Amino acid sequence: MDIKSAEFVMSNSDVAKCPKALLPEYAFIGRSNVGKSSLINMLTNKKSLAKTSGRPGKTQLINHFLINKNWHLVDLPGYGYARVSKSSKKTFQKFITQYFGLREQLVSAFVLVDIRHEPQTIDLEFMQWLGENGIPFSIVFTKADKLKPQAIENHVVAYKTILLETWEDMPNYFITSATNDIGKDAVLNYIDELNGN
Ligand code: GTP
Ligand code: MG
Repeated sequence: MDIKSAEFVMSNSDVAKCPKALLPEYAFIGRSNVGKSSLINMLTNKKSLAKTSGRPGKTQLINHFLINKNWHLVDLPGYGYARVSKSSKKTFQKFITQYFGLREQLVSAFVLVDIRHEPQTIDLEFMQWLGENGIPFSIVFTKADKLKPQAIENHVVAYKTILLETWEDMPNYFITSATNDIGKDAVLNYIDELNGN
């Protein structure tokens, strides 16, 4: 799929105020600093569509972007940032639960995980929660430019091994780098397929 247009629509903390249009929607979620906003910029060929930062906790709201005037891409705040207060962790949980619970337009989530790390409990628990709630998702490994191919392969195998202990199949997954434009076509073509094209 070619990206012909990508526009910021709105940011908010209230799911009820998200765009009403019944356009197919794809949400990007994962730990703080995993590269959600950077991936969105890479996919849309726009360097600063979504705000990125070296400091975790940059994205605090639900951000909608309209792509090719017919689907929405959503940048969500990151989870698992140790330095946020208990009350903001609670607020985050509420907002994410509401987002995934109420957003009928959501076709699929993309759970981003940093390819450099061993499988992390927080990510596995989040995937489990999505599965229990019937929310389709794919895994997006990020920052592939940081590892050699063999190390990438080893980390994917580690994920597969652990996921297959509780899941019948390995979820669909992508290997990406926002820095080196890796995985762009694979993710975009997958979305295009889900959009029925
Ligand atoms: P929050 O909004 O804080 O949850 O973070 P985020 O997941 O949106 O991450 P963001 O895109 O802001 O990127 C975090 C940091 O990782 C930035 O310093 C990026 O430059 C860096 N980064 C993101 N993607 C890549 C990548 O593919 N390769 C490398 N090397 N660095 C990346
Ligand atoms: Mg962000």
